[in-house]
Amino acid sequence: MKKIAKILALVLVLAMSMSFFAGCSKDEKAEEKTLKMATNAAFPPYEYKEGEKIVGIDAEIAEAIAKELGMKLEIVDMEFDSIITAVDKGEVDFGMAGMTVTDERKEQVDFSDSYATGVQSIIVKEGSDIKTVDDLEGKKIGVQLGTTGDIYATDDYGAENVTQYGKGADAVIALKGGDVDAVIIDNEPAKAFVEENEGLAILDTEYAVEDYAIAIKKGNTKLLDDVNAALSKLTEDGTIDKIIAKYIKAE
Ligand code: ARG
Repeated sequence: MKKIAKILALVLVLAMSMSFFAGCSKDEKAEEKTLKMATNAAFPPYEYKEGEKIVGIDAEIAEAIAKELGMKLEIVDMEFDSIITAVDKGEVDFGMAGMTVTDERKEQVDFSDSYATGVQSIIVKEGSDIKTVDDLEGKKIGVQLGTTGDIYATDDYGAENVTQYGKGADAVIALKGGDVDAVIIDNEPAKAFVEENEGLAILDTEYAVEDYAIAIKKGNTKLLDDVNAALSKLTEDGTIDKIIAKYIKAE
């Protein structure tokens, strides 16, 4: 009899603790952790706005990563040249914005494995006398502030020849209006802008080839490892290729 009572008590304690833990995980689910991503949603097809919603390759890959990590994704839109600081200050968990890995940026943030390649392209007006990179010498060049296009153009042609715009699209408007002679920007946004605007052409030259990766706060190795694990899984199961193919039509 005593033994039975003991067993019953044990079962009771077990049942109670099980329901207690079940309750816990439920609560955790309810307040699912949020993963905050900084981007600059003016960079199609990687990130741009469709109404109020931020869509594009980066937005969808980030969504898939968050899902892998069992977290909710929140995207914060900001100026491109504020992203690294926001990551560094811990205002966001990571930055994803078609962002090129550079040695200089690596001093401020860590980068995940690369998930895409970017090429710096040159947009001109149709019929322009600028035919190659060398023809840019002494010409007025428009760029998006703080991008690698900005950094390289300033290094190669001098700050006095480079005009920085908040958005790539504004540099393209300046090109159409004749305020600049060329725009240096990543190839996929370049294609999107040329498609949207008549009378523009992309030079058949690769000004620079670069790797895009996700910027994470230095020292946050947990998140870096988790993001890399998610990226490698999403690469292996074809998710990343599928997302890219949705936005970039094969030539
Ligand atoms: N790849 C270039 C860079 O890292 C340009 C990226 C611009 N991205 C954006 N979302 N506006 O500097």
